[in-house]
Amino acid sequence: MQVIQTVAEMKKVRRDLKGTVGFVPTMGYLHEGHLTLVRRSREANDFTVVSIFVNPTQFGPGEDFDRYPRDYPRDFAMLDLGHTDYVFLPPPGEMYPSSYNTWVEVLQITDRLEGAIRPGHFRGVATVVAKLFNIVAPTCTYFGQKDVQQCLVIKKMIQDLNMNLEMVIVPTVRESDGLAMSSRNIYLSPDERRQAPVLFQSLMTARKMWLEGEKDAEKLRQAMVDLILQMPLGNIEYVSIADALTLRELAKAEPPAVVSLAVKFGRTRLIDNMLLE
Ligand code: PAJ
Repeated sequence: MQVIQTVAEMKKVRRDLKGTVGFVPTMGYLHEGHLTLVRRSREANDFTVVSIFVNPTQFGPGEDFDRYPRDYPRDFAMLDLGHTDYVFLPPPGEMYPSSYNTWVEVLQITDRLEGAIRPGHFRGVATVVAKLFNIVAPTCTYFGQKDVQQCLVIKKMIQDLNMNLEMVIVPTVRESDGLAMSSRNIYLSPDERRQAPVLFQSLMTARKMWLEGEKDAEKLRQAMVDLILQMPLGNIEYVSIADALTLRELAKAEPPAVVSLAVKFGRTRLIDNMLLE
């Protein structure tokens, strides 16, 4: 495994690769969710590149950029075990020199859910991902369903800007109690950690009701809210039942629909989602 720290070196290495390149962008502090994306890439490509970059432009003021967990030796060990070929680990100045002035903005779909609560977040995500795609020039990129709105934003950007790559969306990897794996889970206190699986439980409740014939989105939403309210440490930011392509809220939960939610435990925001299909 080779660690590359400059844009120039990454581009040069890429130019010399003959064969398909799979690319997994991350912010590091890796877990089994990230490693599943890496495995998918390895299975389907001649080479796999993983980037680790805690992207400052996707964090709002007062968010957790400074305290976002970082442990590069640990990440390298995990990626090496997973037989990653290249790790791209640029310092912030490589990605955003002081003269930096270009932004990628996907409209509409970014107004809702995460975008409504975190203004500017998806502008930062789309910009850094576009830059990474230009630098790594992958054949195929791998993203997690866990961040469903991020998947839709990147998919739209690839389409609208005629980017020359495929995108694969990988199902959410969970802890044994259902909590979606996330680098931010380490922020949770033991009590918060015990209550956090309620996100998954509420998604399963909605899915079960839906499979049994309940299509009234408000009823599904209310059942989820009632369950989450039983956990005193959780504060609901949103519970949404939306069209899985546009993220517009639905009155009637007809497929393709996605149930998604954001719940805060103390200062930690957790998100999760499930497709109704
Ligand atoms: P990060 O949160 O590190 O996630 C990197 C990738 O791993 C994303 O595609 C995310 O959806 C996926 N992922 C995270 N948890 C997962 C889980 N439990 N199961 C499956 N996949 C999971 O998302 C970002 O970084 C950044 O926004 C990034 C795209 C790198 C741009 O900065």
